Amino acid sequence: MINEKIFQNVLSEFDSPLDSIRTVAENFQRDLQLGLTSPQDSSLKMLKSYVGLPSGKETGKFLALDFGGTNVRVSLLRLDGFGKYEIIKRVGEPLKVSGKYDYIGKGSTAVQLFDFLAKIIDEAIDGNRDTEFYLGHTFSFPSAQENLNDARLITWTKEFATANVVGEVVNDLLANALSRRGLFNVKPVAVINDTVAVLLAAAYKNPEIFIGSILATGHNTCYLEPSISGAVGSGGMILNLEAGGFMNLTPNRFDSILDAHSEQPNTQRFEKMVSGRYIGELFSLALAELLNEPDKHYSLTSVDISAIISDDSFNTAKRILTEKVGRELELDDLNKIRRLASAIVIRSARLVAASFAGIIRQRAGNNEISAQLIAVDGSVYEKMPLVKENMRRAFDQLFGSNSAKIDTLLENGGSALGAAIAAAMTP
Ligand code: GLC
Repeated sequence: MINEKIFQNVLSEFDSPLDSIRTVAENFQRDLQLGLTSPQDSSLKMLKSYVGLPSGKETGKFLALDFGGTNVRVSLLRLDGFGKYEIIKRVGEPLKVSGKYDYIGKGSTAVQLFDFLAKIIDEAIDGNRDTEFYLGHTFSFPSAQENLNDARLITWTKEFATANVVGEVVNDLLANALSRRGLFNVKPVAVINDTVAVLLAAAYKNPEIFIGSILATGHNTCYLEPSISGAVGSGGMILNLEAGGFMNLTPNRFDSILDAHSEQPNTQRFEKMVSGRYIGELFSLALAELLNEPDKHYSLTSVDISAIISDDSFNTAKRILTEKVGRELELDDLNKIRRLASAIVIRSARLVAASFAGIIRQRAGNNEISAQLIAVDGSVYEKMPLVKENMRRAFDQLFGSNSAKIDTLLENGGSALGAAIAAAMTP
């Protein structure tokens, strides 16, 4: 039976009271300001995307490659203008299948990974070698860009570790793989971050959207910065914040243990507190303490968290926990464990909402906050219980009388649509 005192102590580690999220919003805003004026002092990378907002008039057929999570997807889409589009074909495969292959671990190479991507592109166009296809590439990692066509990977995140990709121009790697496969008719013309893709996709339909975000395997946000020129499209330059790297936070002891054991310690501290790749691990660590089995690793995932929270009857919780903990737990313990899972998710939602509040304030400057939606994509935002309502509640607390002006909006499928729009915007 879980000790009540230990339970309260572990639970309180995941508290996110108003004071703390207000500080996060202020610190986030300060890092945004520093990122514009004195970049070396900011924990936000604020990478230029070389794209601004679409006009809505982008049309035509494009290929979209979406690379950056557990699955890779390739879509052939037709843009019909002003938010309308049709997916003609979509194929996708996991990047790793236990016991079969793993293109994202340390043991894999750039050539193997990009040859796999080229194979999936080939499937999406049914082996066509005659028609010319322009391809937009959503590459969801921190990348340095000098134009919309190319991006150089700065560092892997989300525990990806494929060799020989860091420091390389990713569309060159892709173009080489396409030629190895004889796909000379596929032309990679644009490369964007997934957050940028979400913003482009949402802005294709709705002009009052300036912030795009992902809450999935990883977490990151971009926004339209009006003061920077040199981008195609309108309204300024979309900056990929690499928000997952935000550092001015107060991690708890579980966050610190998780970080110390991760592929790249002391990086992506925000992401490691909020995103799908990590919250299952946080849950496992905290649970090991609750059950007084400090050396155990239960390998619970964000999907397990979602299932445990969703089911009031505790049947699912019982099944999952019996399997992963290795013994049957009492109802009272299951109840406590469910409260722990909820607290982890609520903290994630509130911290992310606080970072959005920082961006909204920064964009508004001395002016009134304008009514706007924040476009968000990703499985944790879309499917995890408690996320949307806790973001909403955080906005109510942080914005007070202005809170009705702000909300989040699901933009699912943004990665493919955004990549096609970027390809269409390429000069
Ligand atoms: C990681 C990547 C970032 C991406 C995010 C969501 O934080 O570094 O580029 O946008 O995951 O996929």
